[in-house]
Amino acid sequence: MITYNSSERIFKLDTPDTSYIIGIGAEDYILNLYYGAYLPDINLWANAERIKSASFSPANPHIPHEKFSTDVAPMEYSCNGSGDFRISAIAVRNSDGNSVTDIRYKGHKISKGKPSIAPLPSVYVNDESEADTLEIYAEDKVTGVEVTLIYTVFNNIDAVTKSVRVTNGGKAPVDIERIFSTCLDLPTMDFDLITLYGRHMKERCREQRRLAHGIQGVASKRGSSSHNQNPFAALLRHGATEDNGDAYGINLIYSGNFEFSAECDYSGTTRMIMGINPTDFSWHLEPDESFQSPEAVHVYTNEGLGGMSRIYHRLYINNLVRGKYKYEKRPLLINSWEACFFDFDTDKLVAFAKNAKELGMDMLVMDDGWFGKRNDDTNSLGDWFVNENKLKGGLSKLIEQVNDIGLKFGIWYEPEMISPDSELFRAHPDWYVHVPNRESSIGRNQYVLDVSREDVRDNIFNQMYSVLSENKIDYLKWDFNRNISEAGSALLPAERSKEFFHRFVLGTYDLMDRFTKAFPDILFENCSGGGGRFDPGMLYYSPQIWTSDHTDPIERLTIQFGTSLCYPASTMGAHVSAAKRTGFETKGNVALWGTFGYELDPTKLTEDDRQIILGQINDYHKYYDLIHYGDLYRLIDPHTDHFKCAWSFVSPDKKEALATAVIMRENFCHLFFLKLKGLDKDRMYRCEETGEVYSGALLMNSGINLSRVIWRDGESKMLHFIAE
Ligand code: DGJ
Repeated sequence: MITYNSSERIFKLDTPDTSYIIGIGAEDYILNLYYGAYLPDINLWANAERIKSASFSPANPHIPHEKFSTDVAPMEYSCNGSGDFRISAIAVRNSDGNSVTDIRYKGHKISKGKPSIAPLPSVYVNDESEADTLEIYAEDKVTGVEVTLIYTVFNNIDAVTKSVRVTNGGKAPVDIERIFSTCLDLPTMDFDLITLYGRHMKERCREQRRLAHGIQGVASKRGSSSHNQNPFAALLRHGATEDNGDAYGINLIYSGNFEFSAECDYSGTTRMIMGINPTDFSWHLEPDESFQSPEAVHVYTNEGLGGMSRIYHRLYINNLVRGKYKYEKRPLLINSWEACFFDFDTDKLVAFAKNAKELGMDMLVMDDGWFGKRNDDTNSLGDWFVNENKLKGGLSKLIEQVNDIGLKFGIWYEPEMISPDSELFRAHPDWYVHVPNRESSIGRNQYVLDVSREDVRDNIFNQMYSVLSENKIDYLKWDFNRNISEAGSALLPAERSKEFFHRFVLGTYDLMDRFTKAFPDILFENCSGGGGRFDPGMLYYSPQIWTSDHTDPIERLTIQFGTSLCYPASTMGAHVSAAKRTGFETKGNVALWGTFGYELDPTKLTEDDRQIILGQINDYHKYYDLIHYGDLYRLIDPHTDHFKCAWSFVSPDKKEALATAVIMRENFCHLFFLKLKGLDKDRMYRCEETGEVYSGALLMNSGINLSRVIWRDGESKMLHFIAE
């Protein structure tokens, strides 16, 4: 609910358990008065009195200097060059050549529901009654630049979304040099910053550091959200834990270059900004032109990191993921990549399909290598026609055979890439991302295709459209296997060259939008060398994302734990592979925390393996709803316990729970008591595996003794509890 008190000039944005409070101060400065647990009050002006801590801070000449300075005030959206020396959310260079920016309140509108910010992805409402939206209109009087701060609060979930639209309302052109989606000033710095770092094969590991005076943060300038840092950050109050205490989450719905920065100033406050990375960015606006920033999603809870994650999960399941497979059961797939790489033909895939069907799988996915003349990664990206040397009789013949066996069929693409050795490159040598007079770097033998161009997008769309419309394809894996260097487009004039990265992301979103609209029945899975583009922007187009190319379950534990800080299980692509290190049982138990599937040669399984797989597939069906729609509780985190880890899913009515524990390394010293969370302490629960009946109180406070159940490296156990 959003209210405006016109005598106090205060906006109150309330969710069930949180309040976000904005005040309009002297000289129409827009100030943040509070964000945290729900408050009934609006008497908050004292929160804005910060002048005591001013130090060499210039001030507005029209307000008594002992009262206010933008340098210390809690600014709702911080401007560059006008007396606030902390990190700026916005900087607009005007026709005089300076980038002094100073926005003040001009008006506002409160409305029901949530407007779309297309062509950018965003959280949406299923029904207008789910949310209210506030638009605060602000203006820089000198340049005429208008800034709209857009907020949506949800009425049944503790999330606030924020984005910003800038319109050049002046008479001269301007250039936006910084435009962050959100700025949040908190009055203290007693927080740890939590971010997700990694690399290819080791994405989204959790890192925690104490905030310190100065600027700290994470960013990507790789052209995608990246394996290396995720567009997610959380502030955890000192003393807060997984289960209790203040946690502030912030996640950017964007798949390109981003920056998150937190600055703690000398007076002990914290400012957070999150948005498009200003490095290599600017945007030219002629009079009357507008620019819309991506959307940031804020979550606050006093139920610790676990509570924060469950809010993100619920919001993303219901208000971000779209399409047929939002709630429809996803097919259990087997993917050819790890079993074949480029070495397959029709017969081999048909044999896969037969065996997969016997095991109860639903879909065969033919990964990389089916097009052009591709037998390795040196060629053919951009040539999206079938390699009939491999698929004799063509694609439809293969699909017919797979369908006759009773399986659906999926295919792999890497639409935003081009191999120098391809027919597409020979026909259009200026279609790759490059800058004049400079040799381009190469990554995995490929260039990036310039999808900021409409003609390039049309070509790729038409090529892919023929294959997708002429064949019965149920699933599409959308890959992206390099980062962008020497970034530029042959079509962009020099003065707009810094628009390239954002135009590239808009091009990707446009392509995805066209495909998801043209083929609403196809299940899309995003991928970028594993999880290099695991972000909420991608989740708007594909309900699942391949989490990592590392499929060993022990390595996957930190990856899945980190990913789960923000993203729900139903979005995490997780497969059982043939990788040797860990046994099949644990592979299955870990992959069940995700979309579940297989990545192995089903013709080469031993009878024992087949029996285990039959059991896993049974579990997949049995626990599908619990895992996809239940509440995740992280029980033991592998980032902090180096021997074991555990997690559980609890049904929303608390009548059912599934707990999984994994031994990463045998611990010769310690016993292992597994304590559950999120149960009803007064109910009795029967453990399906042992038949024992325990109270919720016992399971959560004493825990169950697993010391003699699992202890060796790589062993794991799933325990299913049902309320009596
Ligand atoms: C990277 C992906 O992460 C893999 O799963 C596979 O699809 C390969 N690309 C194919 O080149």
